[in-house]
Amino acid sequence: MFASTEQLNQIASWAEEHKHLFKPNGKSRQYGIFSVLGYPTAALELRNKIIETYGLQGKKQEPMFQDYCGYITEGGAIHEHSDPNQDGLIHTRFNVMISKPVAGGVPVQNGKEISVEEGDVWRCDAGVVKHWCTEVEGNKPRIVCSFGFLL
Ligand SMILES: [Fe+2]
Repeated sequence: MFASTEQLNQIASWAEEHKHLFKPNGKSRQYGIFSVLGYPTAALELRNKIIETYGLQGKKQEPMFQDYCGYITEGGAIHEHSDPNQDGLIHTRFNVMISKPVAGGVPVQNGKEISVEEGDVWRCDAGVVKHWCTEVEGNKPRIVCSFGFLL
């Protein structure tokens, strides 16, 4: 597991406490940018671990969505899309599954489902790969921390 249980619990609680400040971005879907709302310690820890693990020292943060917490409840999904690149660099995201729904909420890249458990990290080359997420089912939300870089 990439994230510890303590980190997952801290970020999940943070999301519940702050979700009223999140921005809606579709049916049953909202997100909060950490730099706007203030990073919980565990999110900073995960960001640092990602930088170390993937060798991202000195890389630029993706400026539009930066690092955010995504929150999707029952009936919500993410449609197929790719994300904007910038300055000849590729919009790349490192995502951590904080709360995995009972069913659904599965990330898909280029048509292939990615098997992700709570606490796992996965990389999405969002500027070049078509990606989406299947519909969330059940009353447990899908909470994801997404850290953006230009690579
Ligand atoms: Fe995306």
